[in-house]
Amino acid sequence: MFDFDTEYDFQDTLSKKWNFREELGGCRDAIPMWIADMDFKTAPAIIEAIERRAAAGIYGYAGIPREYIDAVIGWYKAEHDWTIQPASIVSITGIVPALHVAAAAFTQAGESILLQTPVYHPFYRVAKKMHRSIVENPMRREENSYEIDFADLEHKLKTERPKLMFLCNPQNPVGKTFSKEELTRIGQLCLEHGVITIVDEIHSDIVYSDACHIPYGTLAPELVKNAVICTAPSKTFNIAGLRNSNIVIPSPKLRKVFVEAKEYFGYPGVGPFPLIACEAAYREGKKWKDAAIRYIEENRDEAVAFFKQDLPEVVVHKPQGTYFLWLDFRQLGLDKEELEQFLLHKAKVWLNQGYIFGHEGEGFARMNIACPRSLLRQALHQIKTAVEEKLKK
Ligand SMILES: Cc1ncc(COP(=O)(O)O)c(C=O)c1O
Repeated sequence: MFDFDTEYDFQDTLSKKWNFREELGGCRDAIPMWIADMDFKTAPAIIEAIERRAAAGIYGYAGIPREYIDAVIGWYKAEHDWTIQPASIVSITGIVPALHVAAAAFTQAGESILLQTPVYHPFYRVAKKMHRSIVENPMRREENSYEIDFADLEHKLKTERPKLMFLCNPQNPVGKTFSKEELTRIGQLCLEHGVITIVDEIHSDIVYSDACHIPYGTLAPELVKNAVICTAPSKTFNIAGLRNSNIVIPSPKLRKVFVEAKEYFGYPGVGPFPLIACEAAYREGKKWKDAAIRYIEENRDEAVAFFKQDLPEVVVHKPQGTYFLWLDFRQLGLDKEELEQFLLHKAKVWLNQGYIFGHEGEGFARMNIACPRSLLRQALHQIKTAVEEKLKK
């Protein structure tokens, strides 16, 4: 019904992933599997909605109609059984901007933000750029999973006294979905220690059939009132370049402070195309989304089986959500620069290097598998050939 197999020519698309390989990646013929864009065209309903709107020729400032809010609410109710109040939604041009606003709104320079590492690298960047200190709560790597170190979390909350926690649910890069018990325990600890929980749920729709996403907004009301929950259609529908997100802030008090900080920074409103795309996605995109996740799940299963059977020297962590594989290359004995060069110039794949997600990520790399299967197979083959050659030496 939908085509995920075609390998497109990204030539005139301005794609950062495909068209800037030389400038940004340092290797023009490496297969790009880094930034979180899929290599698929978005849902036909979104393309049609944008084409219709583009044909009108009117591109002035956009306002947010009630129908848009209803579409967002409808999606989260139907997909996640999460009831969102219309007034709690704050529109902003992306989740990373929302994290900056949250840091400015709820902390002062010099105060700290807690991160569970390894974690999506802009979490570090937000804290650093805004002169906030970082408190790390590293996750424990078990044989088949990453677990929260609650003793360490509690200790850090008590002794380091962070003001915010940035929580990534599901977790990028390790692909963990958190259970209700885990989220509740995190939420209670944050509440107890006066820490506001900023929850990034951008990957919430990308969860495989053997796992389950628990929206933070479905926890107990006192925990939800202490949270800023960041949602967006961008990863689910591969429309990140349109720049849109819907931040859910149930507490009027927190919402007011957040909106004031957003206005202080002069964030412009979201444009007409992101709004049109989001509404079409949430009203008409379910079938495409389900099909895309099924396809990516088959990619995941094939890639995980490949590493386990054909290339056990690279230890693969099977994700429950997100379209990333977290790969452990430490058996190659390369330092971080050597690994980067090896992957780019020998394997000819452009992955995100693990160290950018925190020092626990050294020796790891994150591989984006939201691509046609033929391309995935090509990349796996190239990695295997390069690793075998390296280990022979
Ligand atoms: C966990 C996470 N948060 C946020 C973003 C980016 O959000 P935005 O483009 O809305 O700023 C990404 C993109 O990959 C992500 O993985």
